[in-house]
Amino acid sequence: MKDFISIADVDRTTMTELFELAAELKRDRTGRNDLAGKTVGLLFHKPSLRTRVSFEVGVSELGGHPMYLTDAEIKMGQRESIYDIGKVLSRYIHGIMIRTFAHSNCTELADAADVPIINGLTDLTHPCQVMGDILTCLENGKDPDTMVVAFIGDGNNVANSWVNAAGNMSFELRIAGPSGYEPKEELLQAARAKGARVTVLHDPIEAVTAADVVYTDVWTSMGQEGEKAERDSQFQPFQVNDELLSHAADDVIVLHCLPAHRGEEITGAIMDGPRSAVFDQAENRLHIQKAIMATLMGNA
Ligand code: CP
Ligand code: NVA
Repeated sequence: MKDFISIADVDRTTMTELFELAAELKRDRTGRNDLAGKTVGLLFHKPSLRTRVSFEVGVSELGGHPMYLTDAEIKMGQRESIYDIGKVLSRYIHGIMIRTFAHSNCTELADAADVPIINGLTDLTHPCQVMGDILTCLENGKDPDTMVVAFIGDGNNVANSWVNAAGNMSFELRIAGPSGYEPKEELLQAARAKGARVTVLHDPIEAVTAADVVYTDVWTSMGQEGEKAERDSQFQPFQVNDELLSHAADDVIVLHCLPAHRGEEITGAIMDGPRSAVFDQAENRLHIQKAIMATLMGNA
């Protein structure tokens, strides 16, 4: 594994090893020198709270130096080509996390770079998020080979990474949103070809019935702000609230990648209620990303 760009590229054994290492790193956050003497570039084309802070802290806790870079300086593809940026950065630093719009920005950078590239969210996928999410499921006693995951809302980047994960594990994935907002068809086909148990629905109650995990994401993702009014009206029946959750398993956990819009895709009462694992989930970004970086770039 040179890069971490898609869960579809990672095999099941590697996923399990990453979850085990993340759990170990979570038990003791001190004393690691996996990235001693190394610098990791963190390149952002979109805003972030969790991804920026968890990667900066994660690199530091592994003994390395994080370098925050924005497109205000780099102007990827305008000031110079993605290829040249990848080649030049590879002479200075030991790995790059990129959050960007077009997924091709990430894959082109990986093709050019001689150092590992980590996808910190593109318009297509958000693999670090879903790795942290599955770690959260494991911590809550869910079995990733038998659990039922109901993803309610937009079939966008986070949902697409769940589809990729369903190709590697045997959980049942049900995705329910309005017509026209389904996950990417080619990712569904690829996951099903690997045996994924995934269904795409338009009825949130059908999706949530007896589910072990109920997941949602914002209705309007970064870069889609011009569609907000239309999306608000289309997604209205897909709010995660007490009524919807009454159809889920008694021990259901509720996940949200955050940032959340309380009162839109999820109620504040659910976010703060006993079934919510959203803040553990946010914390787990740190631990799983440390595991990914130690594996890709570590000195060991
Ligand atoms: N979940 C997530 O990636 O959050 P940020 O957009 O704040 O990084
Ligand atoms: N789907 C959201 C996820 C944010 C972490 C977005 O792309 O904005």
